[in-house]
Amino acid sequence: MKAPKEVTKVTTHVLQEMKLRQEKISMLTAYDYSMARIVDRSGIDVILVGDSAANVMAGHKTTLPITLNEMIYHASSVMRAVQRALVVVDMPFGTYQGNSLEALLSAIRIMKESNANAVKIEGGQEIMESVDRILSAGIPVMGHLGLTPQSINKFGTYVVRATQEEEAQKLVEDAHKLAEAGCFAIVLEKIPAVLAEKVSREIPIPTIGIGAGSGVDGQVLVLHDMLGINQDFSPRFLRRYNNLYNEIKGSVESYISDVKNQKFPNKDEQY
Ligand code: KIV
Repeated sequence: MKAPKEVTKVTTHVLQEMKLRQEKISMLTAYDYSMARIVDRSGIDVILVGDSAANVMAGHKTTLPITLNEMIYHASSVMRAVQRALVVVDMPFGTYQGNSLEALLSAIRIMKESNANAVKIEGGQEIMESVDRILSAGIPVMGHLGLTPQSINKFGTYVVRATQEEEAQKLVEDAHKLAEAGCFAIVLEKIPAVLAEKVSREIPIPTIGIGAGSGVDGQVLVLHDMLGINQDFSPRFLRRYNNLYNEIKGSVESYISDVKNQKFPNKDEQY
């Protein structure tokens, strides 16, 4: 009998090597066991347990309401499914801004209670003390610059960021600072492609883009958006690989009709 094939786990070092050999990194979100299992077995490099769970799983308008306990619940469910992908967990709003000790304790809770591989934090210079403190505990940190949805109340809108020189300059500086601090990768969300390419060329760690063009080291999308489960969100950067809203709705309608018309169950489906 053949021995089962060994699965080689993706680590932060593997991502670094991928950047060096210019192999693009694939990343998708997942928030639960069943979806994470499919995504992992498909060969994705990184799974992000994003705080977008607040939107797609819980129906909130922003990512702000999700709690640390809820993120740990989602991350633990994902971790029970994953064999190969590197799993990164978003630190939710209010758990790392302004107090680096709270940031450290929140990151430790995520790592200890979910068994995840890394955390992600939104922001640059203003959260650097928290980044340093989490890194010093041996926890890998992914940065997130550009459109940072936890700051929606400051921005007031989800439009493209860093189109003006001053904001673009700050983004480049922040990317360098995060890389120098020891972050293993940075998400660049909804910024001009030219700027994302410049950052990706200049910094030594991988950049993962969402709405940041093709000159980055990898791409990330929200799973429910790219599968077409969520139909209310259609920014220019989103490519839909399926239309699961219609497929699932069609299946549920067929089931309802079969139940009503006594076509389900049939003789072979009973005991
Ligand atoms: O929460 C999330 O899904 C994210 C991605 C959009 C990068 O942060």
